[in-house]
Amino acid sequence: MIVNKDTKNVDHIPVLEEEVKFFLNIRKGRTYVDGTFGAGGHSSMILSSADCRLYSIDRDPNIKIYGQKLKKEYPNNFQLIEGNIGNLKVLLEKHGIDKIDGGILFDFGLSSMQIDNSERGFSFRYDGPLDMRMSQEGPTAADIIDEYDEKELSNLIYKYGEEYKSRKIAKAIVNYKKSKPITTTFELAKIIREAIGHKSNKKIDPATKTFQAIRIKVNNELEEIKQALEDTKKLLAPGARLVVISFHSLEDKIVKNFLKINCGLIENPYRHSLDIYNNPSDKNIIFSLLTKKTIKSSEKNNKINPRARSAKLRAAEKNSDFADAA
Ligand SMILES: C[S@@+](CC[C@H](N)C(=O)[O-])C[C@H]1O[C@@H](n2cnc3c(N)ncnc32)[C@H](O)[C@@H]1O
Repeated sequence: MIVNKDTKNVDHIPVLEEEVKFFLNIRKGRTYVDGTFGAGGHSSMILSSADCRLYSIDRDPNIKIYGQKLKKEYPNNFQLIEGNIGNLKVLLEKHGIDKIDGGILFDFGLSSMQIDNSERGFSFRYDGPLDMRMSQEGPTAADIIDEYDEKELSNLIYKYGEEYKSRKIAKAIVNYKKSKPITTTFELAKIIREAIGHKSNKKIDPATKTFQAIRIKVNNELEEIKQALEDTKKLLAPGARLVVISFHSLEDKIVKNFLKINCGLIENPYRHSLDIYNNPSDKNIIFSLLTKKTIKSSEKNNKINPRARSAKLRAAEKNSDFADAA
């Protein structure tokens, strides 16, 4: 999803829109879930594709305004739920839903609304408080930085940022903290850039990986993703679809492994590709994989929406044999 800053009205272009539409297989009378509503770009596309029912979820309370707009357009077909997809099954059960016969979509990561709002503290490009909480509840990024010692920071930055210079960064943060707490995005970004340097030929800002790591920790992102994916096994009815878009390798690894296990796929060590482990009686084969390779955004679409560049889509269909899996 991107936000067009040239207009007062927010103009949403969802990532991989056509591909999501194709793989979700949106049909009249079916029920769908958009687990990451954001500004409602994909939700809007789903509702306009067929006379279906849609439950959209987001943990960010600021999305209500977009939800209200869709509710006005589709009063009988659309329901917005504020909550965490780590509790997907429970959230839907509270609305009387225990089976989804259409499909479930996840478009992980942050919305442009979140990134481009300096007050939310997600981006090192804007100066703002070190917050980074999607739900605006619980400890902030500043709290975590304040609380963690050098080793904990280094481990966090290495694990969730895949940053091999994590030790240098952690040391610089802890040194700085001795004189004053780190409370703003610009302060943190400056400490990181000074600690590991910024090569002028590198496009990626040195603060990128550390910001990613802290954001993942603040929002417990990877655990919530794992739980949400697990819940889809019970929620989806036979023939219903699971469509997932991820933005960085840690997210994609979780999705890939989940599908590998639940589609009964094994990695062929000789051909570096996924092959079907053809044993239909295997009780682990809950889904059939629809995307042997990840689906990526076209160059044309990347030009319109540069954030789509790192998006990867994977999709699967729930198998009939698992009608009663619960
Ligand atoms: C990339 S945006 C989705 C954009 C949306 N597909 C659109 O077209 O407008 C991701 C959204 O998912 C939400 N989100 C991320 N993790 C979540 C979680 N664990 N539970 C609920 N919402 C989550 C974020 O708050 C954000 O609004």
